[in-house]
Order: sequence, then C-alpha cells, then structure tokens
Amino acid sequence: MSVESHSASSMASSMDKSPLLQGVFNPAGVAVVGASANPDKIGYQILHNIIAGGFAGQIYPINPKEKSILDHPAYPSVADIPGVVDFAVIAVPAPFVLRTLEDCAKKNIKSAIIITSGFGEVGKIEEEKQLKKFADGHRLALLGPNTLGVVYTPSKLNASFGPRDILPGKIAFISQSGALAISLMGWTMMEKIGLASLISLGNKADIEEKELIEYFNHDENVETIVIYMEGINDGRKFLRTRIEKPVIVLKVGRSQRGAKAAASHTGSLSGADRIYDAAFKQMGILRADTFTQAFDWSRGLSLPQPRGEETLIITNGGGIGVSATDECERQGIKLFEDPAWLEERFRPTMPAFGSTKNPIDITGQGHGQQYQLATQVALEAEKINNLIILYCETAVTDPMEIARSIEAQYSGSGRKKPLVVAMVGGERSRAALHYLNEKHVPAFSAVDEAISALKVLFTWQEIAQRPKDYPVIEPPPQGAIAIIEKARREKREILMEHEARQVLELCGVPTPKWGFAEGQDLEQALQKAEGLYPLAMKIASQDIVHKSDVGGVAVNIKDPQEFKQQYAAMLSRISEACPQARIAGVNLIQMVKGLECIIGMSRDPQFGPVVMFGLGGVFVEALKDVSFRIVPFGEIEAGRLIQDIQARKILDGFRGMQAHQPSIIRTLCAVQRLADHVKEIDINPLMTDTHGSFAVDARIVL
Ligand code: ACO
Repeated sequence: MSVESHSASSMASSMDKSPLLQGVFNPAGVAVVGASANPDKIGYQILHNIIAGGFAGQIYPINPKEKSILDHPAYPSVADIPGVVDFAVIAVPAPFVLRTLEDCAKKNIKSAIIITSGFGEVGKIEEEKQLKKFADGHRLALLGPNTLGVVYTPSKLNASFGPRDILPGKIAFISQSGALAISLMGWTMMEKIGLASLISLGNKADIEEKELIEYFNHDENVETIVIYMEGINDGRKFLRTRIEKPVIVLKVGRSQRGAKAAASHTGSLSGADRIYDAAFKQMGILRADTFTQAFDWSRGLSLPQPRGEETLIITNGGGIGVSATDECERQGIKLFEDPAWLEERFRPTMPAFGSTKNPIDITGQGHGQQYQLATQVALEAEKINNLIILYCETAVTDPMEIARSIEAQYSGSGRKKPLVVAMVGGERSRAALHYLNEKHVPAFSAVDEAISALKVLFTWQEIAQRPKDYPVIEPPPQGAIAIIEKARREKREILMEHEARQVLELCGVPTPKWGFAEGQDLEQALQKAEGLYPLAMKIASQDIVHKSDVGGVAVNIKDPQEFKQQYAAMLSRISEACPQARIAGVNLIQMVKGLECIIGMSRDPQFGPVVMFGLGGVFVEALKDVSFRIVPFGEIEAGRLIQDIQARKILDGFRGMQAHQPSIIRTLCAVQRLADHVKEIDINPLMTDTHGSFAVDARIVL
C-alpha cells in the first residue's frame, strides 16, 4: 500500500516530536477509543491484544454504550477517564477521528495512533491535513492514520490488531506496509527472532521515520532499527535524521520509473532509486536487498564489535568450508593465516584425518564435544578476532547437541568476540538454529547469510568511526549572481558556454586558460588567443545548441597562422548552416589532456539538489558508472562520492591514467554553491591528471 503521494505530511514540521513518543512506548495508561464487545470488530481485537499481551499499565476502553468490555470498565468518552492516560489508540470510523483527537487534547494526551482508514490513501487529503494541523497545534505525536498499530515488547504493549505472539528482542521494525508488518510478525516468531518494537507507520500524516529513529537512539531496549520503506514524504527532513544506532532499510521500488527526462545529462542519469541510495550512503544507513538480509544483518549487529579482522572458520565438512572461504573473499573478510600455530592449537580438537588449515575441519565425526573444544580454543586465542562456525547435517551427529555445545561455550566465554553459525541441513538443523537464535547466537541456514551477518559488523564499525563531515557551503560571489541574473532578464534558460565557465570559475571550479572574443573580430580574437596555444575554438551563439553539428568547433589549433584559417573557415561554415544565428563571439580554450570525468548537479523532487560524479566517455555513456550525493556535503563526503564509482581503480592510477582527487573534491564542493541559484549543471568533460582538474566544457540550466 503506497501512501507516499497521498500523505499530508509533506508540510515540513520543525517541531521535534520524538520525545513525545515516550507516551506511545511506555504509557502509564492507554485508552482504546472504539473498543467494542463484539469480537468481530477491530476495536475489540486491539483491546484484547493489549490485555492478553500483559501490559501492566491502566487500560481504558472507550465506548458510548458499554459499561465494561473484557472485564475492564468502559467510559463513554476520553474525558470521562478517571486516571492518567498518555496514549490513545483510535479505532472509530473516520468521521469521528478529529473529534476524538479534540477529546484527547483536552485530556492532555500527548500521543495517539489512528488505526482508522479512509484518509489520504483514498484521496481524502484535506481530512488528513486537518489531523496533522491539529496534532501540531496541540503538540501531539500522531501515528497513522491507516495503521495496524504498534507493539513494544519491553512494556508488553501490543496495541495492534496483528498477531499476539511476538518474541521479545532488541530489533525495532518500522513498516510502511501494515500487511507486511503482520506477515513479518509471524515470520520472526517462526524464525525465533526477537523484536523490541513493531510500528506500522500507515499514511505518516505526522510521525515519520525520522522521529522514530531519533526516539530509538535513546532507547536502550533497541539495538538495531529495521525499516521497510516504499518512499518518504520529505527527503530533506529525512536527511537530517541523527543516526546513532545501526539503521537497516529495505527500500522497495528500485526501478527507473522515477528517472525523469531532464535537460541535462546529470538529470537523466539520476532517478529516484539512485538518489535514495545516495541518501542512505550519506546518512550511514545500511541498505538491504531482501527481508531476510535485513534481519540477518540486524542479528549480526547484536554481536560485540570486532577488535580486528582475523577470522577463523570451524567446519565439519570440506565443501561448506571451501564455499565459506570463497564467500569470505568475495565479501572482504580476512581469514587468519598461521599454519604452524593452527596445527599446534587445533590438532587436539579433531581426529587425525582432520585439517588444521583455516577452515579448521573437525570432520563429519565432529560432535558437540569437538565443536565445543575447537570453539573454546578459538575464543581464548588472542590472535583470532571473529569466528564462523559451520555445520552440515550428517546421520551420525545431532545438530541440537552441537548447537547447545556452541552456545554453552560462547556464553561461558562472556561473548567477547563476534561469532556466527550456519547450520545447513533439514528439519533437525533448522530446530538447532532456532535454538541458537533464541539464545541470541546469530544462526543461519546458509553460509553466505552467516558471513554477510558478520561482514555488516565491519561495515557498521566503519560508519560509526567515520569522521564527521561538516559542509559549509558559501553563497556564490556577486559576479556569478550578476551573470545569472542578466541571462534571466534576457529570458534565457541556458547560460552561454563562456558565461557558464566564468560562473564556475568565480565559484572556485578550476578551468583551463581560456578567453572569449566577442563578435566576429579576427584581430581581437588573435589577441585573446595569445598564450593559449594549442587551443580549441568554439562558436558562441544562443541560437546554436549543438555546436559540432554545424561545424562550430575546431580543436588543436597550434599557432596564429592556423588560427586565422580556422577562424575564417568556422565563420563561413556557420553563416551557411545557420544564417539567422546571432553570433556572440568565439570561445578560446587551451587544450588539456587527461582522464575525462563528468560532474553535474540536478534536482530531485524528494531530496532537492543532488551532485553527480563519474568518469566520462564510455563509462558514462554505456555503463552509467556515476554516483550521487545530496547537497549539502563536505570534502569528506565528496571523497567518498568519488570512491563510490565502479571504475574507482582508474582514479587511483591505472595504465598511465590517474585523477587529481583533491581538485575533483574541491570542484564537487564548489558546484554546490550554485544549488540555490540554478537548476542544473553539467561539467563535461572535467579533465584530470596528476597535476589538477579542469572544467573544459560546462552547461548551466537556469
Ligand atoms: N467514541 C467511542 N466509541 C465509538 C465512537 C466514538 N466517537 N464512535 C463509535 N464508537 C464505537 C462504536 O459504537 C463501536 O462499538 P460497538 O461495537 O459497541 O457498537 C466501535 O466504536 C467501532 O465503531 P463502528 O462504527 O462499529 O466501526 P467499525 O469497528 O466497523 O470500524 C474502524 C471502525 C475499524 C476504525 C474502520 O473504520 C476502519 O478504518 N477499518 C480499517 C482499519 C485498517 O485496515 N487499518 C489499516 C491497517 S493496515 C492493514 O490492515 C494491512
């Protein structure tokens, strides 16, 4: 159920409502407005879930007719509640919702969830806006409307009409889809994955992902936040979210549907999903491809932080050992290597035909005792930082016995190192891995899942230790603004090339030596060309968009002699091809050699101005090997942006090609100065070599 386009919450709210969410998760009293004695009604089911879940606070059913529901005294309205109530669950038909909120505000209730459907998702945008307006006006945190409810296991609160049984844990799951939240509740139960919270966001009229993430930043019951996302209402608000704990997002809709036909190259290379990707990278959010991956990662992230990279594999089978080795290499996990030391320490843990190379193969005869022994050696060894334990099911071993042995050894050691387990087999192995999960030892049914759960710890460690990037984007200088304003007054949508180059230069973008000879004056042109040879000459006319198509470009002009010939030839070609074109003059640009790059800026409907970087030529044409970041970002993030492209090796130096990264970084920061003043920028090519980078050609769309 996509609600993005219907929601009213695009009205950005500057109010920080995340502290008010305390009322949602730890209420002293909960009112269920629309509670019913009829088990077929949603209001009955919610009340029943709250009571059956064991919530210890006060529970107040609100119903105009009933005296008592499910053995709890009922009240005709919120105003009649005798005690303190700080959270209202609203399940009355849509026409009564606003009035119910008014009652809540009078009772000084600061948080509410609206279960009721029939707002933005069916086109009732105005009605939804009224809810938001009321919530802002009365400093009320409002979840929904159109939600399944909310669950928070630390306070045993199940204020939802979803399933009842949820295993407590440390993961908060925020879902934009109610249906998916229901199915996930059942799945996590089956897989023995514990949840601290489950929040069905609904239409997000008021509370969105940002407030919830920031609330959970301070909640010690939550270690990891998993979000199912279809879209966000306000990209720039989302970008300001403080990420202090691992946040894993499963963002659906990777298609290029959102890519828009734009006037610039940069615009056509963007598209919604690439920009979301950029936002997540910039924010330090982990993006998962599937649900299972998101929950695999969240379990991995419950492990202690790795103290180093050296990783050991213990296995009972050669095949899965080899596949784990391959997978470690693919995912960039470093395997510990010291054959003599491994032989000395691990030989006593296995039969004579076992292998002490990493993977440590305790053989198909490895029972719980051998696993326990090998695990103990690995956990006690200073040299080993991380442990991957593999088991493939055999007829002579008992997976549950092995799981118990591993768990006992790990818990007994104080769980100081990351340890993941893969139990590969049938029903017996599955039961064993569920046992491990219940004991908070991350266990998986496939080798790659276990390794991915370990790898994410390193990824998060890198994110958590990143130096902070503090972007300071200066406004463009007055001279640059004057050029832009002049073009605007002349009702031009695109700056002429020399204007664009001048604007960029004034903002701090390095350019090659260049000159502009006005009109059709050969003497003046010759003077301007002095000191620029070898140079490129390009016609400047607001009536000519594709200069080379009409013979408006001549390159590699070596001296004044050649210049005179080329100048005359070009003007005659132009007067033949476009006799009506107004000639502003000719651009004269010193030829520069190097690696061709492209830098651009365009506007995304959700996130606003975005900056793109890639290698030029075939890399951008055929491979679309470009990367994005959202304005504003500083030099540190710009450095990460350029390292994001597939062809990054070439930037670092490859077969005589090399990029001057500091000047590319400066250019990426400099173009941001124009973000509030122009619509799109293409610097194509930006030529770079070991000495510097130069914006050779530029296009600026107003
Ligand atoms: N104050 C207190 N109680 C009230 C009020 C009021 N202002 N108005 C009505 N009530 C009582 C009613 O008397 C009734 O109790 P009763 O059974 O004793 O008569 C109870 O509240 C419910 O009211 P109904 O009119 O019977 O409404 P119903 O229960 O049929 O529907 C509901 C209400 C559930 C909110 C409905 O309008 C709705 O929106 N349903 C969809 C919910 C939904 O799907 N949400 C999205 C979830 S995501 C997902 O599903 C995947």
